[in-house]
Amino acid sequence: FDFAAPANEPVYAYAPGSPEKAALKKQLAAFKATQADIPMYINGQEVRTGKTVDLRPPHEHQHKLGHFHYGDASHVNAAIDAALAARAQWAAMPWEQRAAIFLKAAELIAGKYRYHMNAATMLGQSKNAYQAEIDSACELIDFLRFNVHYVSEIYRQQPVSSAGVHNRLEYRGLEGFVLAVTPFNFTAIAGNLPASAAMCGNVVVWKPADTQVFAAHEFMKIMIEAGLPAGVINLVYVDGPVLGDVVFKHPDFAGIHFTGSTGVFQQMWKTIGENIQRYKTYPRIVGETGGKDFVVAHKSADPAVVATALARGAFEYQGQKCSAASRAYLPGNIAQEVKEKLVAQLKTMKVGTTEDFSNFINAVIDERSFNKIAKYIDNAKQAEGVQIIAGGKYDKSVGYFIEPTVIETKDPKYVTMCEEIFGPVLTIHVYDENKFEEILEVVNTTSPYALTGSIIAQDRYAINLATDKLVNAAGNFYINDKPTGAVVGQQPFGGARASGTNDKAGSAMNLYRWMSARTIKETL
Ligand code: ALA
Repeated sequence: FDFAAPANEPVYAYAPGSPEKAALKKQLAAFKATQADIPMYINGQEVRTGKTVDLRPPHEHQHKLGHFHYGDASHVNAAIDAALAARAQWAAMPWEQRAAIFLKAAELIAGKYRYHMNAATMLGQSKNAYQAEIDSACELIDFLRFNVHYVSEIYRQQPVSSAGVHNRLEYRGLEGFVLAVTPFNFTAIAGNLPASAAMCGNVVVWKPADTQVFAAHEFMKIMIEAGLPAGVINLVYVDGPVLGDVVFKHPDFAGIHFTGSTGVFQQMWKTIGENIQRYKTYPRIVGETGGKDFVVAHKSADPAVVATALARGAFEYQGQKCSAASRAYLPGNIAQEVKEKLVAQLKTMKVGTTEDFSNFINAVIDERSFNKIAKYIDNAKQAEGVQIIAGGKYDKSVGYFIEPTVIETKDPKYVTMCEEIFGPVLTIHVYDENKFEEILEVVNTTSPYALTGSIIAQDRYAINLATDKLVNAAGNFYINDKPTGAVVGQQPFGGARASGTNDKAGSAMNLYRWMSARTIKETL
């Protein structure tokens, strides 16, 4: 049972002239020259309905990458039937054999398919090469390897026995099937949500975001090549309400592993509640649902550290990380210097396609998202006591491009300090540097979310005070760093309040949720 702790997968730099960069470019060109015809996968079979949806890079919406086949309620039912039919054999498979499949998938991503995964993520989700590398290669590989290690550690935990009595815990999957609903913004999360549940002996129906299907499909093919038996993970593309209507009424529904919006998660939870008497077992409900992540600087902070934490934390992947810094509190004594340094850094961030590796900022995911973000920017342009101090321009003629935008507000409760925007928009509030405790109270009470946040300070008392006062304000709390980029095995990830159930991704805490143990006492 002992799978030793792995090391994190090394990150490729894709330096100019490197063979890695040439290989990634080649794969990008290959995907662009082909029209992908992407099926669903039910019971290990490719399913094509003929009802197709086009896939287009968000940074070049005139180009077609291909299409995927859309399903309906009958496909959801077929996926559930296939999952339930596969369950007994999968659950009975020796754990080492199950683990070997996920470790093999990690090897395939690390080697043979690294450029496929990254190129699919770059084109489908408009991530630059580095952001794709740390997501669809490294983080996904880490999730697979570390979770195998954590599951093996959990399985070894056994109760004590006593004279004449032998006790043991048998860790089983849930009795039924698990639904994985996954987001567009991380290919690693999209792969991990079905894989981590399956690793614990569960069978899964997986619905990715429509905007992430290109890379999701690459991962599914890798799982099949790694030896995943038919029916263990069934990949369907359907409308959310159609999916919910079948899954949440099914007696064998045993759990949901979700990452997405707070509104959708709350609606699902309600529906599950309304149907609770239908189920054979209480479903496990695990969700990660966004954030309004903060950076608070103390008067002792190094302005350069604050500026870099904001530039990177707010604008990597166009601010579309649930962990992205989106509200900053700057003390008056250093605010001007921080703003100047931040604006200077933003000027070096080129906006454009992912295929040109010199671009740092690419497109936001789709038109709906573009319009929503643009509206926040337009409203800020007209609001009293609010100023745009960087960016503010947007253009969707070629792709959904929005400049990295910094808003400054006198009102710490201005709408862009409170609401999740999910785009390249950071709002700054400058506070009286002698009112640090008061501002910590504002940080704690301004937003309903509690995912990530940072304190930047050199003064140890200020660090300790912020750590104490913001105890429930962030599930991932950073000292003198940006609030993004949690690494599997190093910073287990997740938040509470409106940000989710805080069942830390990439840790034993998450994996326990996909297990239903039996205690066996044997009297000798
Ligand atoms: N785990 C991702 C991060 O920390 C969301 O940025």
